[in-house]
Amino acid sequence: MNRVENKLVLVTGASSGIGEACAKRFAACGASLILVARREERLLRLQQVLASETDVSVHAHRVDVRDRESVEGLAAQLEKTELVPDILVNNAGLSRGLCKFQEGEFVDWDEMIDTNVKGLLNVSRCIVPMMLTRNSGHIVNVGSIAGHVVYPGGNVYNATKYAVRALTEAMNIDLVGTNIRVSSVDPGATETEFSQVRFHGDKKRAKAVYDGFEPLTGDDIADAILYVVNTPAHVNVANLVILPTAQRNPYVVHVKGGAGRKR
Ligand SMILES: NC(=O)c1ccc[n+]([C@@H]2O[C@H](COP(=O)([O-])OP(=O)(O)OC[C@H]3O[C@@H](n4cnc5c(N)ncnc54)[C@H](OP(=O)(O)O)[C@@H]3O)[C@@H](O)[C@H]2O)c1
Repeated sequence: MNRVENKLVLVTGASSGIGEACAKRFAACGASLILVARREERLLRLQQVLASETDVSVHAHRVDVRDRESVEGLAAQLEKTELVPDILVNNAGLSRGLCKFQEGEFVDWDEMIDTNVKGLLNVSRCIVPMMLTRNSGHIVNVGSIAGHVVYPGGNVYNATKYAVRALTEAMNIDLVGTNIRVSSVDPGATETEFSQVRFHGDKKRAKAVYDGFEPLTGDDIADAILYVVNTPAHVNVANLVILPTAQRNPYVVHVKGGAGRKR
């Protein structure tokens, strides 16, 4: 049964990876879209592709989720045009660096905390009141296995994803008695631009992260998110952890020839 047809879905971080895959999956199911990211040209390209392949309406907005005023502006515009999202996928996020805490860069820490935690808060704080007015909605926070298990060098990224897990729980508690559901989908190693961003554009180092095993794809995670939001209204998948078969926790990965530490 397709329960997302004719729904309106806001996806943050839709210009790449998991967010882009979500946009394509949702559009194929007949859901209209509000796409958010900083790289507008990519959003416009995706908008064109979806327009040529589907009948759904697709709105693209260049918004940096760290910029509270910009997020508030988007929310005001959506409210004015009566485009209240039925589903919010809080996907925008990143990691920066993989090194010991004592060697970490403040600028990397700020970027991760501002995007993964404060960005998610900015968007949710602006969209949830609109959902409350209608007493319906579903928020899916894209967390990570990094929010369940800390790995060497993950420190501040881990902390941001632990925070996402805490916020998913907190939102669920605070929204009890309403029809608004809050879920988190927490992936393991997924081959997107994630590692390129983590290693500041070092494509060779990024590629090596996925050497010797089959990682998840953006489509795998989009399928999981689609499952979560397609459940009946009385069902709330609070937390869904999804790993590649070769990976059993962030650092136990079977790499060609035996289980071992990948990182
Ligand atoms: N890949 C993995 O192994 C993995 C595992 C677990 C969890 N995750 C999580 O999955 C989510 C998506 O990551 P991905 O793997 O798909 O990586 P990706 O390909 O690098 O995509 C990240 C997306 O986030 C957007 N974004 C980053 N900062 C933003 C900001 N300030 N404002 C608006 N959008 C912003 C990027 O768009 P712009 O640059 O155009 O703004 C991009 O669309 C993240 O939350 C990540 O932590 C990934």
